[in-house]
Order: sequence, then C-alpha cells, then structure tokens
Amino acid sequence: MALVNSKKMFEMAYKNGYAIGAFNVNNMEIVQGITEACKEENAPVILQVSKGARAYANHTYLVKLVEAAVQECPEIPIVLHLDHGPDFETCKACIDGGFTSVMIDGSHLPFEENIALTKKVVDYAHERGVTVEGELGTLAGIEDEVKVEHGKESYTKPEEVIEFVTRTGVDSLAIAIGTSHGAYKFTPEQCTLNEDGILVPPPLRFDILEAVSKKLPGFPIVLHGSSSVPQEYVKMVNENGGKMPNAIGVPEEQLRKAAALSVCKINIDSDLRLAMTGTIRKFYNDHPDKFDPREYLKPARANIKEIVRHKLINVLGCAGKADECK
Ligand code: G3H
Ligand code: 13P
Ligand code: ZN
Repeated sequence: MALVNSKKMFEMAYKNGYAIGAFNVNNMEIVQGITEACKEENAPVILQVSKGARAYANHTYLVKLVEAAVQECPEIPIVLHLDHGPDFETCKACIDGGFTSVMIDGSHLPFEENIALTKKVVDYAHERGVTVEGELGTLAGIEDEVKVEHGKESYTKPEEVIEFVTRTGVDSLAIAIGTSHGAYKFTPEQCTLNEDGILVPPPLRFDILEAVSKKLPGFPIVLHGSSSVPQEYVKMVNENGGKMPNAIGVPEEQLRKAAALSVCKINIDSDLRLAMTGTIRKFYNDHPDKFDPREYLKPARANIKEIVRHKLINVLGCAGKADECK
C-alpha cells in the first residue's frame, strides 16, 4: 500500500490501547532495520525525519529510501513524518515533497504565537490530506539546535490544551510529562538508588497525562524523548572505547502504561543510535583488521531490527495491528 497519514493509526491505537512507534531515520540501514521488524511483526509504523536528518542525508534520498521500504513492505501501513518541524517553510517543503504527516514545533513560542504558526501549517496540510502534530510544553535535552537544560523544561499545562487543539485543528498533541531527548534523560541527582545499586529515575507525570486526556477525550497524545537507553548497549559502548557515563532512559513499563492510555505515538531515536553505535564499536574492537563498511553495518542493522521488534511487542503493543490500521 502507498504511504498513509496518521489518522486511522491513531484512531485504532486510541481505541485499542496501544501506541504507534515513531522511529527516526537517517540512512538506509536504519530504514531497513525498522521496517523489516515491522513487516515481520505485522505492525504499523511511523518513519520520521528531523531537520538534522534532512540536512545530513538530503530530502530526496530519505523520501526515496522510505518509498523503497513501502515497496518492500506492502502489507503494513507506513507514515512518513517530519519530526520537530521548525517553521512553516520546512513543513511546506515536506508536505509538497511527499511526507504524509508533519510536526510543527512551536513549543518554545508564547502561546498565541504557537497557535498562529500551528494553525497556518494545519490549514496548508489539511488541504493536502496531511496530518499535523503540535506541541505544548518543553522537554529537557537536545534536538537540533535547541538545547533545554534539566530544570528549565516546562510541563504541559492541562488548562491550555482544549484552546490549543480547538483553535489550531491539530490531529495530535505532543505533551511534556517528564520525558526528555537524548541518552541523558535524568541526572543522577534526580534518581534514587535501589537495593541493587541501580539508579531509578523519577516517574513520569501521569497526573498531567490523565488531566490532559480528561480535557481531550478520544484525542491522540504524543510522547517525545521516549527512549529507554538499554543498559546492555550503554555497557557495550563503554566497554569498547566509548564514554557514556550515567546514560539513563525512561523505564519501559511506564511507556507501556502510557500506550494503554491516550498516548498513540511514542518517539524513539536514541535507543536505535545506541544499538548501532554499540554494535559498531564492538565489531571494530573484535575485528581490528576489518575495513569493509558492510561488515559492521550488517550486525548494526540486525540489532536495530531486534530492538524495534522488542519495542513493538513489549512496549508499544502494536505488533499484529497492521491490518486494522489500513
Ligand atoms: O528529537 C530529535 C530526534 O532525536 C532527532 O534528532 O535532530 O539529531 O536528528 P536529530
Ligand atoms: P529520544 O531521544 O528519547 O529517542 O527521543 C526521540 C524523539 O523524541 C524524536 O522526536
Ligand atoms: Zn522529539
């Protein structure tokens, strides 16, 4: 089937208590690893492209890679989504250039300016059958040039969501409930030590998610910054020449809980980056004589596939749901 927008996926995800995985793509091996797992698990999927990915790989290459995945996986619905669209022009370029969904990220703007910018994108997108994600509240962490320090993030205010959604006409809303971008989601000071000596991060603000959902019944909510930073890969990186002290992610049980509530899209990027980097570092440590990129990209792609499979089955709950999302 051709690329689809996110409408039907979110409708089914909301109704049936699961979330769609939104995975960031930058190159062929990442696209293949994700979509091969989704095809084998019969799962719907959102492939998302950031401003940085477009700058790195070029819009056309990314669209063509995703089109190749659509051709190779005709059984599953696939959305091509712009992640963190920074302005109207970038959203327009993606809408005109084959994307089926865009995010306009006005979360750093004052409320009225966020509404005006988001509505402008929605008006343009909806005329062309493209769905739009908006955002209220800011996450800590780094995305492209925007860096928000821990402690400077702001949770979504539930009292603002009805006005934002009604006046903009967005199809989904990203909210801030304590997740953050990157591999360092929580400082050690924010965590508590459990009896096994493992740092346990503070729980997500489910009270805010529930208050938002009460205000917007039936409306799809999005979580950014939702990597879990698997410690096996942090260890693999650190044992093979890397240095990632105190890399901590969101516990998977909390994401599963969110997916069963109103959260219909969960963004995961750092976990795939870690799997890829850990695998490549280990490969070169184990085989210092090798120099063929295919030899290290092959196990990296295989590990991306396995981590995505794990997310589909155990975290998102969307394995086997491709047919109902068509
Ligand atoms: O939220 C951002 C995504 O992880 C994409 O990251 O801007 O480095 O491509 P990027
Ligand atoms: P992570 O950095 O937690 O993978 O989040 C990715 C994201 O939110 C992309 O928009
Ligand atoms: Zn994000």
